[in-house]
Amino acid sequence: MKPKIYITRKIPEVIYDQLTEFATVRMWEEEETPVPRELLLQEVRDIEGLFCLLTETIDEEVIQQAPKLKIISNMAVGFNNIDVTYANKQGVIVTNTPGVLTETTADLTFALMMATARRIVEASDYLRKGDWKTWSPMQLTGRDIYGATLGIIGMGRIGQALARRAKGFGMDILYYNRSRKNEIEKKLGVEYCEFESLLQQADFISLLLPYSPEVHHLIGEKEFKQMKKTAILINTARGGIVDESALYHALKNGEIWAAGLDVFEKEPIDLDSPLLSLPNVVTLPHIGSASEATRLKMAEIAANNIIQVLKGGQPITPVKIK
Ligand code: GLV
Ligand code: GLV
Repeated sequence: MKPKIYITRKIPEVIYDQLTEFATVRMWEEEETPVPRELLLQEVRDIEGLFCLLTETIDEEVIQQAPKLKIISNMAVGFNNIDVTYANKQGVIVTNTPGVLTETTADLTFALMMATARRIVEASDYLRKGDWKTWSPMQLTGRDIYGATLGIIGMGRIGQALARRAKGFGMDILYYNRSRKNEIEKKLGVEYCEFESLLQQADFISLLLPYSPEVHHLIGEKEFKQMKKTAILINTARGGIVDESALYHALKNGEIWAAGLDVFEKEPIDLDSPLLSLPNVVTLPHIGSASEATRLKMAEIAANNIIQVLKGGQPITPVKIK
């Protein structure tokens, strides 16, 4: 008998077809809404493989409902939506999609640096609103990227990919990471720096670390006060790393200069969030890895992890909790 799989969102057809060849597949067919929690709890009852996204919270309750479950395959590199410790305790393997989205996410991170520094979105709106009357010396002036200091917090794959881009733009690069990476320092010409010192020195601060409860609100009121008044904060990691209300006040009061955000404490962010009223914030709907090619590769790895495990083999990219 074919194994049973549940997919929590409409995925590309080629990947769906690949899975149906080998398993009995049920899928939440919608693209724009996540599967309701109650339905998810029912759907997992008889499955061996779960293909899910970061929009689903896979906690004890879900895992307990799924006694036959062998693998939870998350189509994302981050896995803070899954209780990995509990899953592993129940003998359930958890996998993610590292590697394939590194360059794409670094591209978007750099795009946010440029958009905030040069006020791209604000300037485009200015033109469309009909405010562009003439060229003038200090009109819509921003900050230079060339020669500026980038502080990368979290020197994993994406942090390193961002550092390579920043080198090409003539930036000085500082990084803070839980463990120092001597090889990377030599290879990329980046300098290790204590957390507080990075906050004080950097012109751009890029968050590229995984979310865990230990880094909840790592950047809050105290940290904003240590940053330069001209600092730009870029978050393409997870919303919970930044205290959004403290960020709002820091931006509003000129404690920092701008922020570029692809992730939020609550996603989608409420449209009446005060952050969205500020001109010096560029906000994106969590599209860091969203290139066609990369999203296809992510879906493919997520599918292959399920296929491997349900065939009795080893997962390709199991999640390791440090
Ligand atoms: C997206 O945020 C991911 O973790 O892949
Ligand atoms: C994620 O892929 C990272 O290690 O930065």
